[in-house]
Amino acid sequence: MIWTQCITTTLLLSSIKAALAAPAAPSAATNPLRGDENLIGYSSTNTISNENTETISYQLAPGQTEAAIVGLYLDFDDVEDPQPLRGDKGGTNPGPRNTEMNKMYSDKYAPPGTDSGATVNAQWPLALSGMILGKEKSGWSRQQNQDVLPAATEMAGVNMRLEAAGYRELHWHVAAEWAIVLNGSCRIQAVNDNGQTFIDDVGKGDVWFFPPGIPHSIQALENGVEFMLVFDDGSFSETNTFLATEIFAHNPRDVLSKDLSVPVSAFQNIPQDQLFIFPGTPAPTNISIQNITGPAGSIPQPQSYSYHFSSQPAQQLEGGSVKIVDPLSFPIASGFSAALVTINPGGMREIHWHPSSDEWTFFIQGRGRATLFTPPSKATTFDYLAGDVAYFPKSNSHYIENTGVEELIVLEVLKADHYSDVSLAQWIGLTSKQIVQDTLNLSNETLSQMTTEKKIVVS
Ligand SMILES: *[C@@H]1O[C@H](CO)[C@@H](O)[C@H](O)[C@H]1NC(C)=O
Ligand SMILES: *[C@@H]1O[C@H](CO)[C@@H](O)[C@H](O)[C@H]1NC(C)=O
Ligand SMILES: *[C@@H]1O[C@H](CO)[C@@H](O)[C@H](O)[C@H]1NC(C)=O
Ligand SMILES: *[C@@H]1O[C@H](CO)[C@@H](O)[C@H](O)[C@H]1NC(C)=O
Ligand SMILES: *[C@@H]1O[C@H](CO)[C@@H](O)[C@H](O)[C@H]1NC(C)=O
Repeated sequence: MIWTQCITTTLLLSSIKAALAAPAAPSAATNPLRGDENLIGYSSTNTISNENTETISYQLAPGQTEAAIVGLYLDFDDVEDPQPLRGDKGGTNPGPRNTEMNKMYSDKYAPPGTDSGATVNAQWPLALSGMILGKEKSGWSRQQNQDVLPAATEMAGVNMRLEAAGYRELHWHVAAEWAIVLNGSCRIQAVNDNGQTFIDDVGKGDVWFFPPGIPHSIQALENGVEFMLVFDDGSFSETNTFLATEIFAHNPRDVLSKDLSVPVSAFQNIPQDQLFIFPGTPAPTNISIQNITGPAGSIPQPQSYSYHFSSQPAQQLEGGSVKIVDPLSFPIASGFSAALVTINPGGMREIHWHPSSDEWTFFIQGRGRATLFTPPSKATTFDYLAGDVAYFPKSNSHYIENTGVEELIVLEVLKADHYSDVSLAQWIGLTSKQIVQDTLNLSNETLSQMTTEKKIVVS
């Protein structure tokens, strides 16, 4: 009896010791973490896999057998297992991949034969930006800046949603802010350095601008709002603005008391943390109730911070339509020039470049592609979906082709005092035929078909 008990105790002790020594060992048949020295190359024990990677069966997208240099858009949507093949170039892909992304960005997966070398990256899908979530389901925001798109040195974008009555809290920043309402409506207000005030309601398609340092706020009206902000500084960050809550939280209470001529106790309930995006009391429908003016009055209309761009009709073009808002019509927004371009299915924003500015572009609806051409001979083709940002450096040529079945709507923003571009087709059309022929060896018949007009969007 005593003997048995002794053995049991010993066994128990040794199993406790074993458990302590190897706490991670899940089962008896555990393999060591590393292999042994026989696995070092050209050992007699080595075997190789007989897996055949040449037996993959696959389907090609329409146009995929065309010569790579033709560079047709490859629509992989209905192709189960797309392969990086174009004409007689490329090979199959038996390995790990993100098939959904290959389908979305087919020109990356099987680039046109005209792509060459490495340009800067000209694309940032906002779907890859981390959202900042507002308090109590009041909204969100996400941004693209140089941290994620290093080539975008001149402009950055912030996409923001405010639910009904939600606020982007009172704030200001070092950069200038240009914005377009994407959906819904909001009330915006500001006070300038002369003590003049501004308040206005803006809806889908309208534009606003706040100069550097001018404090402002934004509140969604009853149907909520979504907008896109563009800043004139590629390193802008939405988490680095001057907020009303923070300036109150970070000045001595005694100083605040003197500054605002109220007792120190007046500040006992102020927020200790920023509010950023938060729910609010619904704005009165009658804007006059919130239209506060002091002795300096309101900001005169010609210098208004808003522009009712939604009421401006677009110019109809062969393959779509376009309308422009720049300081020639919206003077306060100095340095921001934008074109809202609609491209019909099959249509294309022609090959062009902007002589005076980089271009920051947002894809509002549909899908398209662009080739960024950079001197001397670099070119990359990018595919864009709604919600993606594109960025084309100054004077680098690009086009935007509608690759989808619905209208493609894009917003092109330049940091320039007026909107301008050079059209490749018009340049060639307005150059002496002899010079063009000596250079490009085009036939007389082709030369006779050149346009002298800037078509902007072709069909
Ligand atoms: C705004 O967004 C809602 C929800 O997606 C959509 O149903 C509505 O059509 C949009 N409104 C406009 C004016 O685009
Ligand atoms: C606000 O009031 C001023 C006059 O004090 C007026 O000029 C301006 O149009 C008003 N703004 C709105 C949006 O009603
Ligand atoms: C809007 O508010 C202003 C100022 O309180 C008032 O004078 C005006 O009558 C109101 N308008 C309407 C339509 O209620
Ligand atoms: C121009 O094209 C023709 C064919 O149309 C070709 O015969 C000729 O060699 C080309 N000229 C040059 C300079 O490449
Ligand atoms: C093309 O046009 C030029 C100038 O009109 C002419 O000299 C030349 O012979 C033409 N070339 C051809 C192949 O017709």
